[in-house]
Amino acid sequence: MDVKTVMVVGAGQMGSGIAQVCAQAGYEVYLHDLDEELVNKGFERISKSLSRQVEKGRMTEGEKTLVFDHLFKSTDLQHAQYADVVIEAAIENMDMKKNIFAELDKYAPEHAILATNTSSLPITEIAAATARPEKVIGMHFMNPVPAMKLVEIIRGLATAEDVYKEIEAMAVNLHKTPVEVNDFPGFVSNRILMPMINEAAYTLYEGVATKESVDRVLKLGMNHPMGPLELADFIGLDTCLYIMETLHEGFGDDKYRPCPLLRKYVKAGWLGKKSGRGFYLYD
Ligand code: CAA
Repeated sequence: MDVKTVMVVGAGQMGSGIAQVCAQAGYEVYLHDLDEELVNKGFERISKSLSRQVEKGRMTEGEKTLVFDHLFKSTDLQHAQYADVVIEAAIENMDMKKNIFAELDKYAPEHAILATNTSSLPITEIAAATARPEKVIGMHFMNPVPAMKLVEIIRGLATAEDVYKEIEAMAVNLHKTPVEVNDFPGFVSNRILMPMINEAAYTLYEGVATKESVDRVLKLGMNHPMGPLELADFIGLDTCLYIMETLHEGFGDDKYRPCPLLRKYVKAGWLGKKSGRGFYLYD
């Protein structure tokens, strides 16, 4: 298949990053969200990210304009009719994802691949909401998308081999490194990362060290670019909690029990960087 047009569903941090790298790679991209304000915010994020590249002398203003020539705003899922590949990056909620996939299945052309950027939910279950489970696949990008090399590619039970190959080639075309993983809760990335973040929250909760000290140990002791609590704020504490709950439920093992402090912060609306407060305070 000659992939020309991509639709990205969800204009948040992940969706806008995915739309940006797709547009930079020369695809025509529809960036979709529920209303115009959300889509505009996504466009602003892309503009800011590209401006960093211009400031660093890696891109000219003209090249930035060219990227925007490839980007189209969408508040109507029916735009999926133009897409060869749809990448869904909405919030981590199974019911919502199933609804989106059922809708996309109605509008997208028969040949179109429906990919999800879910960070932990079963691809097989999402695929079952469509009449084309062989064309549904996981394409899990890392945050910040333009900076991170990895894309986890996850086959659902019914995913066809040519669909896997197409998405693998697309990831390479986006200058990413695809890694194949199987459809288990949290895949590989979040099965390993989230329990570390959860354990860091327990370490703070139990008074073993201050948040700054917990982060400093992992940064200076293990060469992590960010400490786990800082990283949790960056990812979003609601997302971290949701993934821990998915691991806990999926494996039925108490070692994945979410830390009560994480729960408390999410209940308080302390969702991390995006809400101005998480483990740390932000302006
Ligand atoms: N958008 C685009 N590019 C960005 C960026 C952004 N928001 N933030 C940083 N970058 C780029 C910079 O342009 C820079 O690129 P060059 O090296 O080519 O110049 C590079 O990343 C490094 O950035 P900075 O020098 O500004 O800052 P830094 O060295 O402090 O790095 C970081 C910032 C890349 C975010 C780094 O701290 C990092 O790697 N943190 C860990 C990120 C991580 O673990 N992500 C995975 C989260 S888990 C996930 O996403 C999966 C999930 O399902 C939850």
